[in-house]
Amino acid sequence: MKIAIIGSGGREHALTYLISKSKKAKKIYCIPGNAGTSDVAENISIDFNNFLKIKDFLLKEKVDLVIVGPEEPLVNGIVDYLEKFKLKVFGPNKLASQLEGSKIFTKNLCKRYNIPTAKFGIFKNELDAKKYLDNSKFPIVIKANNLAAGKGVYICKCKEESYLAVEEIFKGKFGIAENILIEEFLDGEEMSYFIISDGVTTKNFGTAQDHKRVGEGDNGKNTGGMGAYSPSRLINDELEKKILDKIIKPTIKGINNLGTIYKGFLYAGLMIKENEPYLIEYNVRMGDPECQTILPMLNTDILEILLNCVDKKLDQTNIQWIGKSSLCVVLCSNGYPEKYEKNIEINNLDKLIIDKDSYIFHAGTNKYQDKIVAVGGRVLNFVSTSNNLSSARKNIHLYLEKLNWKKGFYRRDIAFKVIDK
Ligand code: AMP
Ligand code: GLY
Repeated sequence: MKIAIIGSGGREHALTYLISKSKKAKKIYCIPGNAGTSDVAENISIDFNNFLKIKDFLLKEKVDLVIVGPEEPLVNGIVDYLEKFKLKVFGPNKLASQLEGSKIFTKNLCKRYNIPTAKFGIFKNELDAKKYLDNSKFPIVIKANNLAAGKGVYICKCKEESYLAVEEIFKGKFGIAENILIEEFLDGEEMSYFIISDGVTTKNFGTAQDHKRVGEGDNGKNTGGMGAYSPSRLINDELEKKILDKIIKPTIKGINNLGTIYKGFLYAGLMIKENEPYLIEYNVRMGDPECQTILPMLNTDILEILLNCVDKKLDQTNIQWIGKSSLCVVLCSNGYPEKYEKNIEINNLDKLIIDKDSYIFHAGTNKYQDKIVAVGGRVLNFVSTSNNLSSARKNIHLYLEKLNWKKGFYRRDIAFKVIDK
């Protein structure tokens, strides 16, 4: 069959790579893809926000299944749009994608179904927000309502910082702001919990902890993710039961009660405090780099899982894992997450030989003539699966040292809470 994957990051390269291993996959397109996906699929240069062009291409090529990786097209309704043309699409529709697209939508759902989350208030103007802050305890968390690529969240230590955050958001730093969310600061350790849902059946799709800060020891600016490990050190049977009963099941039911279903991956960003889960946020997709970290541990044909999901047959699908741990280190361009150079060559990549339990997934790369060049901030993902996270990390460091890309950097301390205790 013919498959199309929409997106161009490490997550999409990992998905494309695994799908290319499926006997059922005869032809794979990646829209627009990166240098890595072009080795296992045909890259099609269409902007993923251009739904009309994408639809024309998919219909012309008679694509059997479309998989949407990133949040932006999902939140903008690509699934609803493509389904109108009878295309089979893996991913949640526009209404269900509000779980990521609108923090206020999710908070209201939490309130309605008693889902544990930080206490919150919604404010429509600067004056009311500031009045509330005058009588608040700090730290406090202030969030823009809309999609802001992880940047619309302020953790404020004092009143002055919180005033500044309110002003920036209402001035439109993250797009037009009709309201703002102010919430209690949750103390604990974060973990990511993933499921796949066909609207009726949900199945676990792994856990992970990512490292969002650019600097070692989890310091410095927020990024898209500098690395991750899986499974999370926090997961246990009792916690998993609480996550499912208190958070996931009521959410899926809440979406059903709106007259629709949740179909696709769902990523719950959780704060864990004394083995109790609190929902921080939902993402309506796999995480990046969590996807690259988790997928190599899958021991079932991914295409079969995704097809069964779209056909509402997840209940008949046995999802198996290899029972190892996995670790991912992201190689970034110097300067990221701020200014960095583009179109710089990464030499030696083709000469790097890696073992069968390791993977290199591309993110911000392109092929230019015969060269591979970095075009994004996060450039390559080095992943290794092992019975031991420490040896996985050592392995990855060895490869990164061999590659010796002078224009890049990476965090050497991924999974430090487990490895370097
Ligand atoms: P979000 O985009 O909502 O996931 O927020 C980005 C990051 O801000 C999260 O990964 C947390 O590290 C942090 N964060 C968000 N909300 C809270 C909260 N209520 N308490 C503590 N940290 C938070
Ligand atoms: N790694 C965080 C995210 O994908 O949102």
